[in-house]
Amino acid sequence: MKVILVMATTLDGKIGRHAADPVDWTGSADKKYFVQVTRRAGVMIMGNNTFNTIGRPLPGRKNIVMTRTLEGKKNKENLIFTNCSPEKILQELETQGRREVALIGGAQINSLFARQGLIHEVHLTIAPRLFGQGLSLFNESCDLNLKLISMDSLGRHTLLLKYDVA
Ligand SMILES: NC(=O)c1ccc[n+]([C@@H]2O[C@H](COP(=O)([O-])OP(=O)(O)OC[C@H]3O[C@@H](n4cnc5c(N)ncnc54)[C@H](OP(=O)(O)O)[C@@H]3O)[C@@H](O)[C@H]2O)c1
Repeated sequence: MKVILVMATTLDGKIGRHAADPVDWTGSADKKYFVQVTRRAGVMIMGNNTFNTIGRPLPGRKNIVMTRTLEGKKNKENLIFTNCSPEKILQELETQGRREVALIGGAQINSLFARQGLIHEVHLTIAPRLFGQGLSLFNESCDLNLKLISMDSLGRHTLLLKYDVA
């Protein structure tokens, strides 16, 4: 199972200004890439704060939302709330025949996967923005070695960097 971390940052490495900040600043080229890579994977894993900023399950993909509180949350056909560990979620997806999954944030959930060595690729869009303050890709220290796969432009102002996790 390949886990691809798919994230956008500002030039100063921020993924959002605060936990409830919607990701509406990355531009249309990033959105297009996000749809392409997540639809190809067919399944996305995210934290509950990220889900709340989106506000609805995204169509054409399974939306797995990690939360510690299942009470009051209703699963639907393409929306699953879970309090299982990253390993358990990935095992379950493997038994369903999945080969690839997009991990789409935020900082807390990215850290859970990084801590367990469960991120295999990173696709990072760098949007032409500067926030000065805000959340980083991870909310705790981590130390991953990366190998550059490719660097491309998404439109005139945005970069897409792809890395393998060594
Ligand atoms: N730029 C980008 O590409 C991008 C992408 C995604 C998100 N973001 C930004 O990231 C921010 C949100 O990130 P965040 O770090 O605050 O939150 P997050 O990682 O999206 O979600 C955190 C939530 O995940 C649940 N959780 C945490 N640890 C868990 C565990 N061990 N087991 C089960 N559930 C667990 C908890 O939900 P409960 O409270 O329900 O228990 C926790 O509140 C927003 O600003 C958003 O816009 C940016």
